[in-house]
Amino acid sequence: MFSKIKSVGLMGLESYMVDVEANITQGKFAVDIVGLPDTAVSEARQRILAAINNSGLEMNLASHYVFNLAPADVRKEGSLYDLPMAVAALSATHQLRGNYRDAAFVGELSLSGAVKSVKGVLPMVLAAKAHGLSEVYVPAENCREAAVIDGVRVYGVQTLEQLVKHINDEEPIAPVAHRPFEALQVPDFLPDFKDVKGQYEVKRALEVAAAGGHNVMMIGPPGSGKSMLAKRIPTILPDITVDEALETTKIYSLAGNLSADRPVINYRPFRAPHHSVSPAGLAGGGTIPKPGELSLAHNGVLFLDELPEFSRQSMEVLRQPIENGTITISRASCALTYPCRVMLICAMNPCPCGYYGHPTRKCTCPPGAPARYLSKVSGPLLDRLDIHVEVPPVDYALLADKEEGEPSAVIRERVNRARQIQLKRFAGTNITCNAHMTPSLTRQYCELTPDAAKVLEASFDKLGLSARAYDKILKVARTIADLDGADMIEKRHLLEALQYRSLDRKFWKTEE
Ligand SMILES: Nc1ncnc2c1ncn2[C@@H]1O[C@H](COP(=O)(O)OP(=O)(O)OP(=O)(O)O)[C@@H](O)[C@H]1O
Ligand SMILES: [Mg+2]
Repeated sequence: MFSKIKSVGLMGLESYMVDVEANITQGKFAVDIVGLPDTAVSEARQRILAAINNSGLEMNLASHYVFNLAPADVRKEGSLYDLPMAVAALSATHQLRGNYRDAAFVGELSLSGAVKSVKGVLPMVLAAKAHGLSEVYVPAENCREAAVIDGVRVYGVQTLEQLVKHINDEEPIAPVAHRPFEALQVPDFLPDFKDVKGQYEVKRALEVAAAGGHNVMMIGPPGSGKSMLAKRIPTILPDITVDEALETTKIYSLAGNLSADRPVINYRPFRAPHHSVSPAGLAGGGTIPKPGELSLAHNGVLFLDELPEFSRQSMEVLRQPIENGTITISRASCALTYPCRVMLICAMNPCPCGYYGHPTRKCTCPPGAPARYLSKVSGPLLDRLDIHVEVPPVDYALLADKEEGEPSAVIRERVNRARQIQLKRFAGTNITCNAHMTPSLTRQYCELTPDAAKVLEASFDKLGLSARAYDKILKVARTIADLDGADMIEKRHLLEALQYRSLDRKFWKTEE
């Protein structure tokens, strides 16, 4: 007796269909599974056996069961296929009557027969739909994340017994009601920019960064408000588009970071890993690599507070992905690529005591210590941060002032207007903001007025800019012009952009 059931597999965000076959022959009772890694086989065998027995269903004890998961040459993670294997066994032994040929199944079984949640349900349901299937059976706990997908019926299954009664038309399960994807406005529990007194230049720099998706380095003494400012960045980020939200949600689904109360990520993520994070924690890791902080921040912000405290390896891991917007993790068994288009925000003190370059307090570090501290941030990493901004100490008078600063909502409105211009500009490409322009797009869209061109030419040699810095200045200037509603980059736009590359000369003295 033979049966074939469909399921779905994932390699990173790439999906493929899996055929789960069961072949049952008369003979001594045995269960063999092929197509799974060795370690997973015995566990799956135990779970399937117990789940079927404990669900009031039958395993034929005078039969040899062989399960095959095809394609065999792709490394699969085991527990996902418990449910389709159990369904295949029940189908081959004629315990199922209804029609399920056009359906895919995913889910882990507990010994009791309960269907337990798995990672990656959203990309799997999308894959099933892409392969023309009309129904997908997923663990009930995961069904809300799948509800955003239209055009395929999704059923949330609690137990194997419930699934069998549904297929046999005894007690049908209602399909999950489709919930259209809605991009969320800013979650209202976040702190607001209006709490930040003074710091007008820094706030302006962060507004430019949010509008164009640029990376930022904030440097300043202790207590000047760097962490305070960074925490408020999510409140001024532009609305996330539906496509962006879906992409980010897929990554969270794969990482197992979605829950019943947060089934989709419909706002821009803000990730702030501690400086003790490992390179794998940032990049992604595991035998079959799962997304790391870089990818979890996709389409949002990755905030690294106290940058020099991060290990050298962690900082090096960032370099390529920050530039490419993707990260590839290689293993003996596979190499997976995840997207990671992030706004990288870094904050740091200029030296171990924190007061190097302070207008009134003396730096108490031994000679050479500030330079050593600053050199922990490598030139190439610094060069990848488009906007460098100093966060000076705040005046007492400003702090004591009762008047509130500009609220986030007002800043956000300007940011959204500038982002709309960019979305229109890059329509039809996979680029959504100025920071991600390719060199040829940069040439095409960063047109300078003659005045601005003269300033840039004069500054290039004087400031000793690298080719990358030149590109970044143009992109930041483009964003400043967009905030201004200007078609061409004018002299004042360019001057502001140049100013955001002057800080490294104050602290690091020389460009890369
Ligand atoms: N501009 C400001 N307006 C209002 N309050 C401020 C401002 N700057 C700092 N503060 C107050 O000081 C506290 C400390 O600021 P914050 O932690 O952001 O400093 P920091 O620059 O990150 O310092 P460190 O370098 O020590 O990490 C804030 O929580 C806030 O209460
Ligand atoms: Mg801080």
